[in-house]
Amino acid sequence: MRSTAPPTLDVVVEKLRATRRLTEDLAATLAPEDQMIQSMPDVSPTKWHRAHTTWFFEAFVLGPHADGYRPVHPTYDYLFNSYYEQVGDRHPRNERGLISRPTCDEVAEYRAAVNRSLTELIDVADQDLLDAITPLLELGTHHEQQHQELLLMDIKHAFSCNPLRPVYRLGTAAVSGPATQPLTWIKISGASRVVEIGADGDSFAFDCEGPRHPALVEPFLLADRIATEGEWLAFMNDGGYERAELWLSEGWATVQAEGWKAPLYWDRQEDGWSVFTLGGTRPLLDATPVLHISFFEADAFARWSGKRLVTEEEWELAATTSAADEPYNDLAHGVLHARPPLGTAAGRVRQLFGDGWEWTASAYRPYPRFEPDEGAIGEYNGKFMSNQMVLRGGAPITPQGHTRATYRNFFPPASRWAFSTVRLAADVPAIEIVDVRSAAIEPVIDVHLGPEDLSAALRSDVIAGLRADQAHLPPKYFYDDRGSELFDQITRLDAYYPTRRERAILAREAVAIATASGADTLVELGSGTSDKTRLLLDAFTATGQLRRFVPFDVSEGILRWAATAIGENYPGITVHGVVGDFDHHLGQLPSGGRRMVAFLGGTIGNYQPTPRAQLLATLADTLEPGDSLLLGTDLVKDPRRIVCAYDDPEGITAAFNRNVLYVLARELDAELEPDGWIHVARWNAEEEWIEMHLQAHGPQRIMVPSLGIDRWFAADETIHTEVSAKFRRPRVEAELAAAGLQLTHWWTDEAEDFALSLATKP
Ligand code: SAH
Ligand code: AVI
Repeated sequence: MRSTAPPTLDVVVEKLRATRRLTEDLAATLAPEDQMIQSMPDVSPTKWHRAHTTWFFEAFVLGPHADGYRPVHPTYDYLFNSYYEQVGDRHPRNERGLISRPTCDEVAEYRAAVNRSLTELIDVADQDLLDAITPLLELGTHHEQQHQELLLMDIKHAFSCNPLRPVYRLGTAAVSGPATQPLTWIKISGASRVVEIGADGDSFAFDCEGPRHPALVEPFLLADRIATEGEWLAFMNDGGYERAELWLSEGWATVQAEGWKAPLYWDRQEDGWSVFTLGGTRPLLDATPVLHISFFEADAFARWSGKRLVTEEEWELAATTSAADEPYNDLAHGVLHARPPLGTAAGRVRQLFGDGWEWTASAYRPYPRFEPDEGAIGEYNGKFMSNQMVLRGGAPITPQGHTRATYRNFFPPASRWAFSTVRLAADVPAIEIVDVRSAAIEPVIDVHLGPEDLSAALRSDVIAGLRADQAHLPPKYFYDDRGSELFDQITRLDAYYPTRRERAILAREAVAIATASGADTLVELGSGTSDKTRLLLDAFTATGQLRRFVPFDVSEGILRWAATAIGENYPGITVHGVVGDFDHHLGQLPSGGRRMVAFLGGTIGNYQPTPRAQLLATLADTLEPGDSLLLGTDLVKDPRRIVCAYDDPEGITAAFNRNVLYVLARELDAELEPDGWIHVARWNAEEEWIEMHLQAHGPQRIMVPSLGIDRWFAADETIHTEVSAKFRRPRVEAELAAAGLQLTHWWTDEAEDFALSLATKP
């Protein structure tokens, strides 16, 4: 509340006026009937918020400081005092919905009258008086901003109780969303383990944010984004609300008593879950942050995830040292709901301010040496410091400029009507903590294929591919940032078995693989998120032999992301990423040491036999005697299961396939209609591969003026976009041998769906 360098009076007054106006704007679209509802004791009617924020200025500015001030109405002091014992008696909190008078119009007059009195007071005040009232005007402004947020929380609750499900602001409920971005762990550590926490008095802060003081914060890991609705659904589907072992005792009792089965405002419909927002009801959106959960739910979710909640000191350290540079999704942004993170921000923490208040593991208690202010204003925060937990961040309904890194929001652990959410945290593995100097080394990234080269390659591939009778496009162009995300989504689909099967083999055999290869460098081709690769990295680190990890991928975005994440999680190894194309840059892989090249996922199957032989031969040429290749191949099986894996009901593979059209439109200014193309996955029994095509739905035209391409496709004509070959052991062995590699190990999962083979260069 104190500031050593207070803002000038003009700045304070201007912000006060804008805030007073905004409150009225927020209420303007609500009918008088809407403004009277108190749908539960925690909720206050809109009209009450408008009046109470006005009373605050009467009680703390005009009454004590304007000579001879006569309150607008003698009873308003009783009606609109919220909780200040020292100011006098109050109307009971849970009866605010019974107050039909003053009417909305009368409240508007009350507001206008107090605004006028404030202006008059400021105009006549001498410097001493201004010194006394300026901090109170500033506090009253921030207080009113808090009530703006409450007003929106409360009307949302009120509307949610109405079967008509009224919409507060049209057009703010997204009905579809992007794919979920993979979660990255960001390592956070201060210059030393003792860090300074809290407001320093240089700018406005509530009393509870200070005094600034030292706190012990060990290095820890923080998720780079908030948990999503999709992740919450997985928690629910895994019995999250039915498993007592996940819950704190009081949380479990609350789940039983309240019958919680999902976050507040989630409803089960015939075709899945829906979510009520200030923009209306919409289907659940996988990548959108989950909102309206209690502390108990956040804590259970973290336990289910094998992680934990962040402490408020840890959160503040992350917010001051590692926040992504991004616009806040606050009230001024206008969306009124959480949104998926924007873009990527390698190594930075996203969504810290604006998408949801993050429950922390910290109880709301006074900081060391905290002393509330004198008098009634001292009741502002101090007396609430029991039985409440701290939330950090901000919400999509938090007024612009209201939040900051030191801001301490707080609610009782069972409350859910705030825009509350959860971000996971984890401890740094103990082995790392022992050596505080082993900080992660920034990954080196060699870019052999810059945007220019990729664009030149794309142009020549498109000219060849779209001119051919059977049009075709190489699969490498699927993988821009969005395509890489979509592929990551594919790997989580129930129907897409290869990733799970390969992971099972790796989980079982990683140590055997590490030992058999004897390698000190792990190269990974087509590394993508390098998610499964962590099983190998763990095994190689456990056997103590790994020095270097070399991910290689055509997609620079995902490569940088993965290389950074792995650099942070495996600080003992050097990460040396390579952006390149299998067809051109295998010769430029960094040499030295004993290498094992992992080519996972069955990506080799995306090559047809002739180029595949070529690729294996080139790769074998780059290896030194003793180096090895760990190859993942999907195996031939019942074609119905294979087709399902490439034609999922969720439509993710379809979106992945169609993504290549968006790449053409964006990179080459191609004119085409992405929705005019149907995703087709066919089993080719003779070749034993899956073929993906995009099939014209009605006649379709693709024009690329810069390349002189203007082609009409007849209805049902296709563009061939990918093959995914399925293998049997003799073929794998023969193809390796033809390239000069000798198969030494062959592992499959229990169902024999997928195989990993290890081959060495003699
Ligand atoms: N290895 C991961 C990802 C497989 S997806 C897994 O098993 O889940 C295929 C990966 O190969 C993508 O990341 C894609 O960007 C990359 N890729 C595709 N064609 C490529 C090419 N020609 N050169 C280099 N990388 C390529
Ligand atoms: C990357 N590659 C192994 C995948 C596959 O299964 O062939 C690409 C893919 N295409 C559709 N779904 C997945």
